[in-house]
Amino acid sequence: MTDMRQLIAGNWKMHGRLAEVAAYAEAIRKAPAHVDILICPPFTLLDRFAAALSSSAVALGAQDCHPTPQGAHTGDISAQMLAETGATHVILGHSERRENHGESNAVVMAKAQAAIAAGLTPIVCVGETEDQRNEGEAEGVVRGQLAHSLPAKFAGVVAYEPIWAIGTGRTPTEADVTTMHATIRTALLAQLGEAGRGIKILYGGSVKPSNAATLLALPEVGGALVGGASLQAEDLLAIAASAPRS
Ligand code: PGA
Repeated sequence: MTDMRQLIAGNWKMHGRLAEVAAYAEAIRKAPAHVDILICPPFTLLDRFAAALSSSAVALGAQDCHPTPQGAHTGDISAQMLAETGATHVILGHSERRENHGESNAVVMAKAQAAIAAGLTPIVCVGETEDQRNEGEAEGVVRGQLAHSLPAKFAGVVAYEPIWAIGTGRTPTEADVTTMHATIRTALLAQLGEAGRGIKILYGGSVKPSNAATLLALPEVGGALVGGASLQAEDLLAIAASAPRS
């Protein structure tokens, strides 16, 4: 990897109230300097977070965007609108969106293109179900998601999140994470050529202070996408502190 700094990204999902922003931002500013920190709150908190995090090294991201810049799309938010708030990243194709909103790989690809066009860094999520893993299909499923979700000129981040590990307290074995991240790197190189070498591959799914050091030290793990544990600044800080330094 060209950039060895790890990225610790907090995905707040549909959590967080306005009253919590100031204290959280104050606490997260004290993040260790050897990692990049990203907070992805709900849309409604982006503006307030941007103000609270101004002149800090903590980056701000969203959890979705629409594939087009504007139009008759009631309830949707475009990548340009996100960029205007001060967001620099956007999570795309999270399994909860693929499942709850029927997002296909093609939709995720269109959103990633829109994000890149707006100057945002997309974080594209991939991952298998428990049945797929039990059937020995995990790597094939993830390769397929990468092939059909990443645009030809992808510049961003990939997050591997086994669906059965999200919010369950269960994580894959170290060997399984290592195998999957190696598979993803190989696929990125095949799809994107040399550019595939610089793409960070995050692990996500039940990352917490007690398991972060082990997961973050595995080969080709470039950081973490953290859901539940990101809601407490101390937990996200503890995860960040356990990231390797080189
Ligand atoms: P979790 O969620 O850390 O609560 O398992 C991770 C995610 O869905 O991004």
